[in-house]
Amino acid sequence: MTYRRLGNSGLLLPQISLGLWQNFGDDGPLERHRQIITHAFDRGVTHFDLANNYGNPPGSAEATFGTVLRDDLSKHRDELVISSKAGYRMWPGPYGEWGSRKYLIASLDQSLRRMGLDYVDVFYSHRPDPNTPLEETLGALSDIVRSGRALYVGLSNYDAEQTALASKILDVPLTVHQPRYSMLDRTPEQGLLDVLGGRGIGCVAFSPLAQGLLTSRYLDGTPGDSRMARGDSLRESVLNEGLLTTLRGLNAVAEERGQSLAQLALTWALRDDRVTSLIVGASSVAQFDDNLAALDGAPLTDDELTRIDTLLAPVAGADL
Ligand SMILES: NC(=O)c1ccc[n+]([C@@H]2O[C@H](COP(=O)([O-])OP(=O)(O)OC[C@H]3O[C@@H](n4cnc5c(N)ncnc54)[C@H](OP(=O)(O)O)[C@@H]3O)[C@@H](O)[C@H]2O)c1
Repeated sequence: MTYRRLGNSGLLLPQISLGLWQNFGDDGPLERHRQIITHAFDRGVTHFDLANNYGNPPGSAEATFGTVLRDDLSKHRDELVISSKAGYRMWPGPYGEWGSRKYLIASLDQSLRRMGLDYVDVFYSHRPDPNTPLEETLGALSDIVRSGRALYVGLSNYDAEQTALASKILDVPLTVHQPRYSMLDRTPEQGLLDVLGGRGIGCVAFSPLAQGLLTSRYLDGTPGDSRMARGDSLRESVLNEGLLTTLRGLNAVAEERGQSLAQLALTWALRDDRVTSLIVGASSVAQFDDNLAALDGAPLTDDELTRIDTLLAPVAGADL
């Protein structure tokens, strides 16, 4: 594994991290979850990304991770970077989502209990709250660090302007931002990466495979066991002829390089060293290994980058 520094912080993260949003809930077998998590760790993947609401039912991914941590990885706690977040709906009533101090602190305490932890390494405000003063949300993050519940704090899904403002207000370091970034969503290139790079804030990007679209999974239809077939977060309607043409073109570039489409997508997203780590999801050990092999790929040439830009142009701004 190769590790990159998270912005200006002292923390190094693996270039590929494992995310437990989907595939790690109570609706899947614990033994498969355990295999993927422990295999990732054996391959040098020290960073595991969670949130209060991950898994089906919400919270079950943190409970799964807590079980595997207790059974298999407890001796390795100090070798792990475990992140969690709060921002999306987690419990009923007015205090179960968004960015109030009330919600963020209560939610983190629940996450710690589910995972059997004294602290998380990174805690994120999962989304900006248009109705809570930014000062309140950031004050809660600051107190969370000072109370020892988290070692570092970050923001997710905040835009470039909100992030720049937050970095001025927060009175502990804003260590990390977690945006969505892939060949199919290049929004961070429109200002956010400059804000992060300029302020020494690390970038940990999510859904670098566009939830599986940037893999061989959908090149010939929708497999029954796929995320798209489940239909929760990836709509079948996004996979139109235009997108398929782009994906098949990208797959041809990948094959010429001796890579899978997933590997090409990850090599591409890591080409900018302001991106510290990519959080990928996986429903099997084989998928995860396929993704890790991206780190053995040759850097993209200028000619390949131009071909990729040309293939992506017709689907730029697609609503995924
Ligand atoms: N901060 C936020 O708001 C936010 C939002 C979303 C995600 N995240 C984080 O980012 C993590 C990753 O998100 P994601 O799951 O959408 O990431 P992704 O890596 O873009 O997609 C993962 C999915 O792609 C498929 N896949 C992965 N590797 C493959 C391979 N080599 N070959 C074929 N198919 C492959 C699998 O789909 P199947 O399951 O169909 O097999 C897998 O579940 C999450 O777990 C979470 O930690 C954060």
